[in-house]
Formats: sequence, C-alpha cells, structure tokens
Amino acid sequence: MLAFHTSACECCRCIPPLTDPVASPFPPLSRGGVGKPPPFIPPLVTSHPHAPRKVASAPPSNSPPVLLLALETSCDETSAAIARGPTDGTAVGGPTDGSAVGGPTDGSAVGGVELLSNVVASQDDLHAQFGGIVPEVASRRHIEMILPVIREAMDRASVTWDDLQGIAVTNGPGLIGSLVVGLATAKGIAHARDLPLVGIHHLEAHIYAAAVGQPLPFPLLALIASGGHSHLVLMRDHGRYEVLGRTRDDAPGEAFDKGARLLGLPYPGGPQLAALADSFPGNVEPMPRAHLPDSRDFSFSGVKAHLARLVRGKDFEDTERARLAAAYQESIALALTQRVIQVADEVGGPPIFVVGGVARNARLRELLASRASQIGLRVNFPDPTLCTDNAAMVAAAGAYKLALAGPDSPHLDCSANLPLESWPTKNES
Ligand code: KG4
Ligand code: ZN
Repeated sequence: MLAFHTSACECCRCIPPLTDPVASPFPPLSRGGVGKPPPFIPPLVTSHPHAPRKVASAPPSNSPPVLLLALETSCDETSAAIARGPTDGTAVGGPTDGSAVGGPTDGSAVGGVELLSNVVASQDDLHAQFGGIVPEVASRRHIEMILPVIREAMDRASVTWDDLQGIAVTNGPGLIGSLVVGLATAKGIAHARDLPLVGIHHLEAHIYAAAVGQPLPFPLLALIASGGHSHLVLMRDHGRYEVLGRTRDDAPGEAFDKGARLLGLPYPGGPQLAALADSFPGNVEPMPRAHLPDSRDFSFSGVKAHLARLVRGKDFEDTERARLAAAYQESIALALTQRVIQVADEVGGPPIFVVGGVARNARLRELLASRASQIGLRVNFPDPTLCTDNAAMVAAAGAYKLALAGPDSPHLDCSANLPLESWPTKNES
C-alpha cells in the first residue's frame, strides 16, 4: 500500500513526493553492477523543485565535444541515443564553412558526431492492427517505453547520469501527444541534472543524420523524403536552412504507404511495397508523374490517384501486383531523382544528401546515384538505420546546435507544426 506525506513543504506548501514511490514496472538502472543502483530519474541537483534555478549555459567556445543524451518521440518510434560531438573542431572555434571537412589536423577527431548508442523501439506491431498510426495509442506507448529505452541507450554506451553534459530532444513537428512525452522527459532530466537543453526540428534532425561519423560539407543540398515531408533544403552552413522546394500534397513516404494499402499490403506499407516492387524481374514503365514546370516542388497525389483507378474493384495475380508496385515505385523514385538533380544543378552542384525514411529505398538510391554520377554530382545517403526516425540524428543536430547557438530555455515548448528556422547565433539568442 502506498503512503503519502500529508504535510505541505515549508517553502511553498507544495505536496512533497510520495514516501513510498509507485513501484517502477522496470528493473532498476544498472551501473555496471557496482554499488547500489540509483533511482531511475536521478536526484535533483537543486535543493527544491521550486527553488529559483539558473538557466544552464552553453559550453564555452573552447570546450571539448559534449556528451549528449538525445530523445526522439515525434511519431511512432521511441528512441534514445548517446553521442559525443561535434568532433570536427566546431565547438573549439573551428571553421563552419565547410573548410572543416577534414577535421582538425592534430588527428584528435574524425569529424561530425561520434555515436555511442542508438536505441529505437518501433511501434509498427502495435499500429499494424489498425492499418495506420493511431496518435493516442502512439503517445501511450511512448510513455511506457521512454524510460527503458533511455536506460538501454545509456547502458549500451556505458555512460552514467554524471557523464551527461546536455540533452537534445525533438520538439516538432509531429504528433503532439507523442512530442510531449519526449519533451517532458527531456525537460525533467535537464532540470534534475542541471543540464543544457536543446530543441531540435524533426527535419533538421533528418539532415544531421548525415553528420554521424563525418562532418557536413557546405554548401549542401538535402532532400528530406519521409512519411510526412518532402523538402529540398539548401544549407550553406550549420543551422542555416533555405527551403527551395516541398511537396504540394502527399509526401513520398505517404505515397508509398497509401499505394501499399491500395495493393492490399500490410502496414507499414512503404517497405512492403518496395520489397514487392524489387521482386519484379525486369524493367517497368513508370506510371504517369505530375509535371510542375518552372517549379522546385513535388506532387505525389496524381500517381496515387492513378494507381487507385487501376486497382479499384480488381484482383491481381502476384506477378501483376508486383509489376504495378514496381511501376509505382519507379514513378516516385524518378520524380524525386529528376527534381533533386534539376535543383542541384540550378544552385551550382553542391553535394546532395538524401535523408528520411524513403532514403532507405533501394531503387531510389540506385537511380539517383547513377543519374547524378552521369553529370558529376555527388550523392550521399546515410546508413539506412539512420534514415527512418531515430535519436542519433537528434543527437547530431543537438551537438552542433548547442555548440553554435547555445541552449534553449528550460521552458522550451513543442508544436505539431513547428516551422523550420535557421539557428540564431549565440549573439542573437
Ligand atoms: O522518416 P520516417 O521514419 O518518418 C517520418 O518522418 O515520416 O519515414 C517513414 C516513411 C514511411 O512512410 C515509410 O513507408 C517510408 O518512410 N519508408 C520507405 C522505405 N522504408 C521506409 N519507403 C519506401 N521504401 C522503403 N524501403
Ligand atoms: Zn522522420
């Protein structure tokens, strides 16, 4: 039975914590088996939760790379990562104009952000029964998973609470109930440990997946192709975003998912449709694509409507279904490839980075790499595990943002429609 304190505390009459806290459903955090395991959320550093507290400050400009905990809960993946960075001299006053591509010359760092662990708990099985993501179910699962996932990330990286020097968290855009879980957890830990907190936009996190293990060269053109987004972003420096194009309707991942449903494939549809398409032997004619002359935008609703017309009320043999999937995939891969190459050419041919869940698509990788190499453009894809939602990419963005723009307020909020904005420099913030 639980016992509660009944007397109010002396300073502000708030109700102090339970004397017998609710038993955690999770085993205690292990610190390598040495000594007594600490409570999961570490003790407050401040004397009282209502005591005035200073705003945590950014690491000084000559500080070494920072060890960060990062959290991602914007949609249906609960993820935590531990990373150290930046390791390319950014935090020690190094150049940010791309000349740091090779990292410091003393051999002390490899550049980019060093990833120590990245734990992702997928909710695919949970949502499969509904054929899509149910927001309320997603946020409840985040609540159940966030602490075990953090603990696992810390264990795998062999770090303790005392080792952490900052927290990065996705604070939008996304499902608001899901975002709140990650943000509240991050704020709680930041407050308890007096750590600087930095909020990361989901799109910048996707771009910074490319900074895991290597520095970003500037300028670069990022194609973010995911379930919720299709953006072309030019970056001339860290945290400087110019959106050159975006989808006018569906995102490419959404088109994959909806196409999969039309073909009767189970959730999650994108990878299933890709697997079916890749099983088709031989070449296919792509389905008709949207033509948007004099534009840098995308549109995928037309090809989806085309597929819907083709399949409505019909049954198909397996080979014909695979052919339809291949033609549909070809059309999306071609639309992305043609647009990104056109825009890269228009802005002087910077290296292209393709990120987001759809960057896992093998046909897109193949087509874009071969078309780009024909005209001498460089294309990069992060490791497939860093393309779909994960906290490693949040850690990478967080490490640079903390070093270059400083921490956010401890009152940081989240928003389902957060706009992508360039970082203020430390002097502006
Ligand atoms: O980036 P992400 O994990 O979440 C969003 O930010 O939306 O991307 C998920 C999307 C889903 O729509 C999924 O179907 C798609 O990425 N996706 C793929 C593949 N793997 C994931 N689409 C096509 N081919 C794939 N192999
Ligand atoms: Zn995403």
